[in-house]
Amino acid sequence: MTTQTAIRVQGVTKSFKELDVLRGVDFEVARGSIFALLGSNGAGKTTLVRILSTLLKADAGTASVLGFDVATAPNDVRQSISLTGQFAAVDEVLSGRENLVLVAKLRHLKNPGAIADDMLARFSLTDAGNRRAGTYSGGMRRRLDIAMSLIGNPPIIFLDEPTTGLDPQARIEVWQTIKELADGGTTVLLTTQYLDEAEQLADRIAILHKGTIIQNGTLAELKKLLPSAKVEYVEKQPSLEDVFLALVGETAAVEGN
Ligand SMILES: Nc1ncnc2c1ncn2[C@@H]1O[C@H](COP(=O)(O)OP(=O)(O)O)[C@@H](O)[C@H]1O
Ligand SMILES: [Mg+2]
Repeated sequence: MTTQTAIRVQGVTKSFKELDVLRGVDFEVARGSIFALLGSNGAGKTTLVRILSTLLKADAGTASVLGFDVATAPNDVRQSISLTGQFAAVDEVLSGRENLVLVAKLRHLKNPGAIADDMLARFSLTDAGNRRAGTYSGGMRRRLDIAMSLIGNPPIIFLDEPTTGLDPQARIEVWQTIKELADGGTTVLLTTQYLDEAEQLADRIAILHKGTIIQNGTLAELKKLLPSAKVEYVEKQPSLEDVFLALVGETAAVEGN
């Protein structure tokens, strides 16, 4: 593995009783990139994220984060990552700022107030900082959640379906936040069942289907899998949706909706 590799997954399998969820998953994520794991509901995205974040053990195969094996060096892995919605949980009674201060204190960081103010500014929450988080919109809440998980500057962040349940405006806000994170050098592994989310954000997209990665490439590479359809003189490029449906079949996509 090169130093440019942030995450490496090789032959990972996981079953729950008779249900073989992961049947040999392989991929690598380059440092500083946004990698989207795209799959329908129940494809095994969360299972994989839980394995990578040391919350769940794989049955076989290996996975490493910044060179640390998730099975043999889980503490080093935990130091390197953050996971939204798991390690960070917004307390509705506290203000946004109080939530951030609390996390900074829990992590024994110096100047928790300054860290909180910095995060509020970074995530465009300064004006709302002293309001109870319970009054925040969905997008603000998700941004606060991401901000909380980033305290301590982990080099890698896992975002498990970061925009599920958000309205279109809030999704765009969260996308912007994710882009800024990656611009700042953070490696982002996000899972999504939304094709447009992968298309908008990801440097590479891996499609998880029936327990394996059936395709992995840049958006341009994935689009090349289908010939562009010529309609009279207008060339129509296939969308990621066309590619996805051709690869996994329409039934799978319908199941996922
Ligand atoms: N702890 C568990 N026990 C039994 N089955 C599970 C458990 N966790 C997940 N599953 C099953 O594994 C499959 C994959 O789940 P999950 O990883 O959550 O998929 P996704 O996040 O892609 O929607 C689903 O069929 C789910 O019901
Ligand atoms: Mg999931």
